[in-house]
Amino acid sequence: MSPQPQAAVGAPLSRVDGVLKVTGKAEYAAEHDIDEVVHAVIVDASIGRGRITSIDSRAAEKHAGVVRVIHYGNAPKLPYRDNAGSNNPPGRRLRVFQDDKVLFHGQPVAVVVATTLEAAQHGASLVKVRYDAEKPSTDLTKAEPGEPTRYARGDAEAGLRSSAIRLDLTYELARNHHNPMEPHATVARWDGNRLTVWDKTQWVMGTHDEIAAVFGLPADAVRVINPFVGGGFGSGLRCWPHTIVAALAARVTRRPVKLVLSRKQMYFGTGFRPSYEYRLRLGSDRRGRLNAAIHDIDAETSSYETFNEAVMPAGQMLYSMPNVRQAYRTVPLDVNTPIWMRGPGFASASFVIESAMDELAHELGIDPIELRRRNEPSEDESTNEPFSTRRLSECYTVGAREFGWDRRNPKPRSTRDGDWLIGLGMAAGVYDPGRFPAQARARLDADGTAVVEAATSDMGPGTYTSQTQVAADALGLTMRTVTFRLGDSLYPPTSPHGGSATMASVGSAVVDACDQVRQQAIKLAVEDRESPLYGVNADDVVVRNGRLHVQGSPARGETYKSLLARNDRSHLEAKGSYNGPGSERSAYFAYNATFAEVAVDANLGLVRVRRMLGVYDAGRIISPKLAESQAFGGIVGGIGTALLEHTVTDHRDGRIANPGLADYLVPVNADVPDIKAIYLDGEDNAGNLLGVKGLGEVVQVGVAAAIGNAVFNATGRRVRQLPITAEALL
Ligand code: MOS
Repeated sequence: MSPQPQAAVGAPLSRVDGVLKVTGKAEYAAEHDIDEVVHAVIVDASIGRGRITSIDSRAAEKHAGVVRVIHYGNAPKLPYRDNAGSNNPPGRRLRVFQDDKVLFHGQPVAVVVATTLEAAQHGASLVKVRYDAEKPSTDLTKAEPGEPTRYARGDAEAGLRSSAIRLDLTYELARNHHNPMEPHATVARWDGNRLTVWDKTQWVMGTHDEIAAVFGLPADAVRVINPFVGGGFGSGLRCWPHTIVAALAARVTRRPVKLVLSRKQMYFGTGFRPSYEYRLRLGSDRRGRLNAAIHDIDAETSSYETFNEAVMPAGQMLYSMPNVRQAYRTVPLDVNTPIWMRGPGFASASFVIESAMDELAHELGIDPIELRRRNEPSEDESTNEPFSTRRLSECYTVGAREFGWDRRNPKPRSTRDGDWLIGLGMAAGVYDPGRFPAQARARLDADGTAVVEAATSDMGPGTYTSQTQVAADALGLTMRTVTFRLGDSLYPPTSPHGGSATMASVGSAVVDACDQVRQQAIKLAVEDRESPLYGVNADDVVVRNGRLHVQGSPARGETYKSLLARNDRSHLEAKGSYNGPGSERSAYFAYNATFAEVAVDANLGLVRVRRMLGVYDAGRIISPKLAESQAFGGIVGGIGTALLEHTVTDHRDGRIANPGLADYLVPVNADVPDIKAIYLDGEDNAGNLLGVKGLGEVVQVGVAAAIGNAVFNATGRRVRQLPITAEALL
């Protein structure tokens, strides 16, 4: 088969859905309008743990416009069938309004349904809930951890004892919330026993399956629709209780229901990046060769589910060393369940490992890049598998050159600009991109246009655009003649839109479907006596701009349109699939080297990031303009984690003290400096057919460490806490 010419893939195209977005025509979950819709507002538990003793809803029910108040005392019992899928962590998921227990502050204890949003909001304020309250346990450092997950190679204790240089460092990482611009929202409508849900989610199939399990419905009785997602960062990777509340309220009231979480409710109604306490002991020889590492990792989870994330792999494979021991313990607390957040696991681990590497470099008087090079592994030492591709060393070279690393003075607190102390720092980043099963469907119509569908999402990375690029080249069509549809559980199923998996997974399924359609057309032509391509070897035919022709002699050929018309075909159609990584084993990771220049006010401790550069080894880049946006977004997110973001819990009653964008700080334009992103050009052919490695997560990994290391270079102060605050630098 002749390879298809690539015209759209690799081109720096703008978003195909850009106009819809900027003109307000893109419909988000809460914007879906249904006649006769009623509004639901959740009443949040005002204790952190305990039992509901009574609910008095009389005042709320009397309020004009209120249709119904639903709580555990009057809600129908729901089947809550087991569902190990849908990203439900091990445990027993929260069952809304099924009993009197309160497991965390903010848990839904009632819902008020009213004909207007205002009536529902006021009604919710009138519901009187009495509790038997207990003192919640919400402090990671004071609670009893669960059984550890362990990893070991060599003898880390002995290795550490025999190391010339030993570091023993403990880091505290704050809880972070995703804060997508669009709040989570659900519109639910029952038609008899069939339920349709418009829901903000990064996984329509996961939400679909969870709703079916909770309500005990057959799969084909549930439909989940979500064509646009206004940011996710991981918050939409599972179905949250409010979605069930909305569907339940619609069933009880026999009306379509709209439920939108308030910004405040986003802090306990959806998950978060868990806080960590992470002790790292590191041993090396005097030339900086690592000998041993011991990682003791504690992270918060809820009392009812055990959330795990990939916080261990980086410590096993990023650097070469014979002796490693890790213990990762989740600590059950009276909080809601955490979930993945941008660069999950790896971003947390990398702050620790990469900060420690910087400490080691300083201790030894070795340049931080040189130290990393001395510990570059030749294979994945945790599996003894070869790397599919690993160009981290090249990331260092390109990054050092482009950033002007040679201008860094290794002596801390040695560069000033007036009152500002200037510092440069760097860090390495790694992420294990997902490759999950996915399906897609492609249809080429007689008019020469095509529609490609898959039940994936586009939370902002530009999936609409990048999948259209992939489909257009595989079909030999222009961008304008291909429509890619997503966000509907009626489309071919896919895995979660997260974990940097979408292009490798959905993209591979899309290519498969489109390749089949193209080959059907080619076969039709070469077997058609009336076609100019009659008798040509099918392997020698390519398609370009909707025209089939012999590879190398464009004159001989015809268009899809004429071929289908002459053969009386209304369309050609195929279903494509991707089954995940094959049996061939290799260590498949995306990498980066991230560089930061900061200025720290010598008197006030204020940190300003001045410049940042990310250099990425993420395989083939399908959509350079979108990839650049992803990198900028990742770096902005990393600035947030490094310097600003911190969900603060009041441990007296388990309430979140800063549930809103006024008090939970995120970077704004004034916090975001000159950013540059460089993608190393190349393909990872072991990984998948497209040669991509996924880039949505790796762009966040290492950013906080690079900034922390720059702060050390500027000030001589090592802060082992995230976020790094002015107070810590005074
Ligand atoms: Mo990403 S944290 O998998 O949305």
